[in-house]
Amino acid sequence: MRETVAVFDFGSQYAQLIARRIRELGVYCEIVRHDISSAKLAALKPVAIVLSGGPSSVLEDGPPAMDAGIITLDIPILGICYGMQLLAKMQKGSVEKGTQGEYGPAQIEILKGGGIFSEMGSHLDVWMSHGDHVTEPPEGFEVLACTTSCSVAAMGDPRRKIYGVQFHPEVAHTPRGMELLRNFLYSIARCRGGWTMEKFIEESVASIRERVKESRVICALSGGIDSAVVAALLDRAVGKQMKAVFVDNGLLRANEVEEIRSIFSEDYPMDVTIADARTRFLDALEGVIDPEKKRKAIGETFIDVFRDETAHIEKAEFLAQGTLYPDVIESRSAHGGPSAMIKSHHNVGGLPEDLDFKLLEPLRELFKDEVRRLGRELGLPERLLSRQPFPGPGLAVRIIGEITEENLATLRHADMIVREEMENYERYEDIWQSFAVLLPVKSVGVMGDERTYAKVVALRVVSSMDGMTADWVKLPHELLGRISSRIINEVKGVNRVCYDISSKPPGTIEWE
Ligand code: XMP
Repeated sequence: MRETVAVFDFGSQYAQLIARRIRELGVYCEIVRHDISSAKLAALKPVAIVLSGGPSSVLEDGPPAMDAGIITLDIPILGICYGMQLLAKMQKGSVEKGTQGEYGPAQIEILKGGGIFSEMGSHLDVWMSHGDHVTEPPEGFEVLACTTSCSVAAMGDPRRKIYGVQFHPEVAHTPRGMELLRNFLYSIARCRGGWTMEKFIEESVASIRERVKESRVICALSGGIDSAVVAALLDRAVGKQMKAVFVDNGLLRANEVEEIRSIFSEDYPMDVTIADARTRFLDALEGVIDPEKKRKAIGETFIDVFRDETAHIEKAEFLAQGTLYPDVIESRSAHGGPSAMIKSHHNVGGLPEDLDFKLLEPLRELFKDEVRRLGRELGLPERLLSRQPFPGPGLAVRIIGEITEENLATLRHADMIVREEMENYERYEDIWQSFAVLLPVKSVGVMGDERTYAKVVALRVVSSMDGMTADWVKLPHELLGRISSRIINEVKGVNRVCYDISSKPPGTIEWE
């Protein structure tokens, strides 16, 4: 059985970050609901438990709790922030509301080194974010660290291997947080480690082969990273039994189809069927203006095309999907969470649910950054792995109004200029998405001696962690100016460029 750490989710925005950090340290971990029963947890056989922080207060009525039996399972526990306060409260320590909270950078004084603070000196810069604090640790616990305003910044019961820290070791603002987590995992919980992408590939290949046997697997490539990594993994596992299909819906960015063709013939040779369905999608979108109706028309056409393309494939029993771990956690989470919306997007132009396939979801244990690492390990080229997310309905959600061939050509050209200029921007890596949107308004302009009356293009450039919230990027004025003048000069039918300076929320990243 795989060595697993259980991360209890008490509703913290950092629960996933904790999980990623643990995996970065070479130990596989899973996020579990905070109210998981001790029997269910025991079945997972975790080698250690980490309790996340959370927005609640243990001093409220009915705060998120955990099964008290878990503390007696003899599994090392590290409670972070709310997790530490809960450990204190459950074991009869005392927790109080502070006169003022502690938010932001702080320095702790380590009163007792060794253990989780092994080789970390006497003082540590940390990140705090709490209102309540532990004033008296439970019996058997020692105070390990304090700050000027928090008398118990860390506590521990070395005999039972239960620890609590008030600060957040998982965030980058706690510069030596990873060392603390490493100490907990390797010195206290005695983890063996060894969770690597190489190991993941080995395990996945074996389990895919065992499930698929002699059957065939169909993999719908979207042009994005996730589906490409799924295809590469399947290629490694079952070779020619996998059929990759890429649907050209005519709503793609400039040169997209050529790029897919070249990636899968030159960089990573694989048999990919490219289905030219441009006319079918354009026909389905004729006269459609309403954004929801557009998405629906695209989704339905996708299913029809997909069905036609795969009907003749014998023994096609499986459909492979690029579901990621955040989607899986979402469907189990006690708190709801950010991935809910992304998931509804995925249904658009995604899985044809009424088709009679068994699902293969080989990435369902991975975070996005791990998928990139996996892609690299499998030999997929950087030009694919560094791609920005692109919505399933493609340029259709970036043309406000009717989708016509002319509008598509205009947007594609403007978008290509954005892409070219942005790819040369020195901070391109900080950008989540950068693209053009074609607006249905015309405005008056003057070019040479002539009055023009032409379309407006909006430029959208955002930074984001996961697409759920986003900020518009303060691009250098010279770059904005260059993009604007290139679009106005080079794209026929456009005489004005606007920069979208709305963040999400309240705006969304796409315009439709
Ligand atoms: P919004 O516009 O909701 O987008 O702020 C959030 C992220 O999701 C992408 N997106 C989609 N992805 N199918 C997809 O696969 C869709 O229908 C879809 N709509 C939006 C968007 O590009 C952004 O990254």
